Amino acid sequence: MTGKICGTGSWAPPKVWDNNDLARLVDTSDEWIRERTGVVQRHIAEENEDTVTMASRAAQRALEDADIKAEEIDLIIVATISPTEIMPCVACRVQEKLGAENATCFDLNGACTGSLLALNTAQAYLSQGIYQTALVIGAEKLSALTDWTDRGTCILFGDGAGAVVLKAEESGRYAQVTQSIGKKGGALTLRSRNQIQYETDPKAKETYIQMNGKEVFTFAVSKVPEAVKNLLSREKIPCEDIRYYLLHQANERIIRSAARRIGEDISKFPMNMDEYGNTSSASLLILLDEVKKSGKLQRGDKLVLAGFGGGLTYGASLIEY
Ligand code: ACO
Repeated sequence: MTGKICGTGSWAPPKVWDNNDLARLVDTSDEWIRERTGVVQRHIAEENEDTVTMASRAAQRALEDADIKAEEIDLIIVATISPTEIMPCVACRVQEKLGAENATCFDLNGACTGSLLALNTAQAYLSQGIYQTALVIGAEKLSALTDWTDRGTCILFGDGAGAVVLKAEESGRYAQVTQSIGKKGGALTLRSRNQIQYETDPKAKETYIQMNGKEVFTFAVSKVPEAVKNLLSREKIPCEDIRYYLLHQANERIIRSAARRIGEDISKFPMNMDEYGNTSSASLLILLDEVKKSGKLQRGDKLVLAGFGGGLTYGASLIEY
């Protein structure tokens, strides 16, 4: 048994900041941001739009696309590093909003690898016959966790949510490779605000995303192709058989480098960071929704999804559409 994709959805706040808007906040330029990252604009949530509302809207669209009722969902997993509340989790709030009364719900923190890890987790439940229908969501309000005075990070991130409905079916294929490198976790950090009250000298900057960009870049360009190649060689699938490679949308240069190292044409690596920036846990599922809605996917197509990010964590999964 595997979980087959039967519906996708995404949602991003209507408010958009382009690179010129950021050039008014920090010492940067549209040209620098485009050349170094591929980002042109990002969606920014208003005060009344939070991770729960974005996740629920993306999920509602995925349910409509799958043509299933909320009560049919057995499992909701939300991947996020920006939950609206610690408790209840975002998944339980989404359950309430959708009326998905039969679902078991929990959140998962895997930073930018989050939605990949959530997909893997849902697949494990579905393949064991524990649940029949799963809703996997990646949702982030990173604008609330971004230091808007730090040009090294603020140019990268955006808000949004993506969702996918999976149904257990006899046919299909799913395989995964994942790895974590906890000892390199200092390259990408975000300190919990709950911790600050215990400290005499709270360093507020630590409660925003802090990143050693070069270290993360070097990690991503080596480990993502390695994971993809390991996955395909273990599954005995030549890379030409893959219809699309969907990579976490952090940086166009990382994706171009990964394509070269995998040995595949860049046209097989759809990108949308120009519109959204890096939406962490949401990025892969927003991209999956766009690819599905483009009408270019046929049943039976093989897709590789690959993520990398805070932890450090990374991985690649193979899914037959
Ligand atoms: N505008 C203009 N100049 C800038 C900016 C900016 N926004 N940011 C840095 N610079 C300057 C630097 O100060 C430096 O100047 P100097 O040469 O005078 O010292 C110069 O530009 C080069 O800086 P680098 O940091 O070397 O730039 P780099 O080419 O490495 O690009 C970037 C930086 C875009 C952040 C890149 O390192 C990157 O994309 N890293 C990966 C980030 C990532 O993928 N994160 C994903 C995980 S996110 C998650 O898990 C939540």
